[in-house]
Amino acid sequence: MASITIDNVVKQFANQTVLQNLSLHVPDGAFYTLLGPSGCGKTTLLRCIAGFNDPDGGRILFDKDDVTRVSTHHRDIGMVFQDYALFPDKTAFDNVAYGLRARKVPKAEIARRVNEALDKVSLLALADRYPAQMSGGQRQRVALARALVIRPRVLLMDEPLSNLDAKMRLQMRDVILDLVREAGITTVFVTHDQEEALAMSDRIAIMDRGSIAQLGTPEELYGTPVNAYVADFIGSANVIPVPAERVGTAPAGSAGGAPPHVRYQLCGQQLDGMQGSATLGAQGILIARPEALSLMAPAPHVPNAIAGEVLRRQYLGFKTAYRIRLHDNSEIRVELHAGNMVADFQAGDAVQVLVPADSRIVGA
Ligand SMILES: Nc1ncnc2c1ncn2[C@@H]1O[C@H](COP(=O)(O)OP(=O)(O)O)[C@@H](O)[C@H]1O
Ligand SMILES: [Mg+2]
Repeated sequence: MASITIDNVVKQFANQTVLQNLSLHVPDGAFYTLLGPSGCGKTTLLRCIAGFNDPDGGRILFDKDDVTRVSTHHRDIGMVFQDYALFPDKTAFDNVAYGLRARKVPKAEIARRVNEALDKVSLLALADRYPAQMSGGQRQRVALARALVIRPRVLLMDEPLSNLDAKMRLQMRDVILDLVREAGITTVFVTHDQEEALAMSDRIAIMDRGSIAQLGTPEELYGTPVNAYVADFIGSANVIPVPAERVGTAPAGSAGGAPPHVRYQLCGQQLDGMQGSATLGAQGILIARPEALSLMAPAPHVPNAIAGEVLRRQYLGFKTAYRIRLHDNSEIRVELHAGNMVADFQAGDAVQVLVPADSRIVGA
């Protein structure tokens, strides 16, 4: 096992800079996820860690060992790919045994370790099957056993669940987590699926065009996104531009007078108590999770209540989702959960959307 340090890595293809001075430290034994839309550089970064890509700048360390110029073969990594990448002409047993044979491990020990690895992924009974005779989930479990049987220093997984059906994807999350926790192995997991990232990771690095937009625990990314990109990517928030107005008698940073603060407006109405920063410019972005908003029938003098009309009501069992059109014609999504729904509304109803006083405002 080892920590992974990515130090200012740059990677270019032709004249495109795919990784821009990217730095990330993954502590020994941690499960980190690279999350981001297609094309943002996740695979490129993983391949740099694996040694399949040569960075054009920066360094990669495993613990204190600089592996930047070390070949993949000598980096001691386990890798799992989206398309399994099993040898089609080898049985499950021989696929898993491959790395041990290459390392000239004694035959009896190979048999013991391969059987143990296949047992851990519940495939001992299928040891003699070829990949073509196995389901996607079974193939991916062979790939996982093959990656872990060599006891690598780090485990790298590139969208390993993307080719599986929805039910198998959920099961495999647990299979992977059980195995990596038991092995205590440092893992970098790549996905474009935000729910998968939230459910599995110690920390998530959200990538945006070759850089890390935010690194944090799932709770941090969901609760305190640093910008609209992160908020929109994790858990689909309402991302609403809100004009800001600076008020207060003293200039920022000076002593004396009322401390300056910033007031925000939504649909011409002032929002009270927002969590923002006085350093924001003339425009803020309100980040409002659909489930953090609530609805009420129109009533006068309610703070942070924005008038609108229900465009669509969607009943989803444990929650009901509403699309609300505000008076400036913008739309906002609200979700009321079955447990705390005090009133229901139908399409065409006039309503007020209640924006909680601790809502978050970030820079544009
Ligand atoms: N071998 C390559 N040659 C040229 N361009 C590449 C190569 N690999 C990746 N790219 C480009 O780098 C960018 C990031 O790709 P990639 O790391 O695969 O993204 P992701 O895994 O996040 O979808 C894309 O624009 C892609 O076209
Ligand atoms: Mg990729």
